[in-house]
Amino acid sequence: MSKFVIHGGNKLVGEIEVKGSKNACLPIMCATVLAEGEYILKNVPNLRDVDTMSRLLERLGMKVERQENNVYKIINKGLTSVEAPYDLVSEMRASFTIMGPLLASQKKAKVAMPGGCKLGTRAVDQHLKGFVALGAKIETKSGSVEADAEGLVGSKIKFDFCSVGATENIMMAAVLASGETVMENSAKEPEVVDLGNFLISMGAKIEGLGTDKITIQGVDKLKACEYGVMSDRIETGTYIIMSLITEGDIKIKNSNLDDLPGFVLELKKMGVSFVQDGGFLTVSGDLDKLKNTKIATMPHPGFPTDLQPQIMVLLSLIGGASEIEETIFSNRFMLVPELNRMGSSISVEGRKATIQGGVKFQGTEVIAPDLRAGVSLVLAGLVADNTTVVNDVYHIERGYEDLVGRLQGVGADIKNID
Ligand code: EPZ
Repeated sequence: MSKFVIHGGNKLVGEIEVKGSKNACLPIMCATVLAEGEYILKNVPNLRDVDTMSRLLERLGMKVERQENNVYKIINKGLTSVEAPYDLVSEMRASFTIMGPLLASQKKAKVAMPGGCKLGTRAVDQHLKGFVALGAKIETKSGSVEADAEGLVGSKIKFDFCSVGATENIMMAAVLASGETVMENSAKEPEVVDLGNFLISMGAKIEGLGTDKITIQGVDKLKACEYGVMSDRIETGTYIIMSLITEGDIKIKNSNLDDLPGFVLELKKMGVSFVQDGGFLTVSGDLDKLKNTKIATMPHPGFPTDLQPQIMVLLSLIGGASEIEETIFSNRFMLVPELNRMGSSISVEGRKATIQGGVKFQGTEVIAPDLRAGVSLVLAGLVADNTTVVNDVYHIERGYEDLVGRLQGVGADIKNID
């Protein structure tokens, strides 16, 4: 198992480039099931999760070629299977969004139920509610969801709450349904909008992307296309926090702050300033002057849950007590025990974490519990006294392409030890 070894304290200076969005390219890759032909996807990050999704598409009979410079070619010459097996779905919950495209183009699908994950139960009831509304017959047996439909029929669907995956899955099913589908209480995340724009490039008729009401006119046929994936806003947020805690001089390339309204608002309230200059973003804010705060994670455009562990590191380093409420996932404070071992002083009560600020991290051996908590341990290691060893870094490699290489590029003392 590989691990990262970090000697903290280096001032980080230089440029770091944000890669393509993991959470946009995964559903976009699923959408290539909707039409035969050759797709060219640009700005696709080279990640463990993209490899997993590539393996799933190949299991279905498609061809996925990773080319130079983050370009992927996906060839759909017709599917040989409609089954997404447990070994792939259990590795990556995002595989479940293959169901909508399979149902729409093949009229049947068999997808393993995503097991629970460390973040919480991760049910799929909203996905199934949408498929049934579109006329699919759903059966859950021996750990899989089997669905079939003579042909999906457009319908009115009101989700019980905002779900990114359910909005994506139903949108991909509805684009080939006959008639109009209206989805209410839809997710507004930029990654959902990027998927919608990809579907429109394929010939789909979608209105209301980025709002909580999406209207889709079903079409008979879609076509393969070329598309550039949006930049990863969670990477951008991660590097903003990294720049602040190391009090470095980092220029972040390919960022789009418009995708992070809730995050930027909270940081500005703390006293952080942002300068966007010719494609480069720099942030500044003295750690001893930033103000402690209370944050609640919310669906877009609120504070993103995927940046909750990262800001927990920042709040540990500034003065005063702060509070984070995690409203999206039932168990997303996996970072706390590991960060407390590095010297933070955080207590958790249900969905609320209270962070005593003003700590100095001590390097030690830690274990990455999941993707975002894992990268947050790396952030803490960059400013800790002496050496931090982060184990189980495969979690981090799911969502950050060549993190070690890019951090070395701005002067961090970090190595990947196999
Ligand atoms: C997406 O997960 C992201 N993953 C997550 O990013 C992100 O944290 C999440 O959206 C929220 O923004 C991808 O896009 C691949 P949800 P998703 O459906 O679609 C519950 C990362 O670090 N729920 O919006 O699974 C669910 O359990 C990952 O990159 C139901 O109860 O999120 C969760 O508590 C982590 N029933 C909440 O809703 C359902 O049918 C939000 O889930 C669906 C969801």
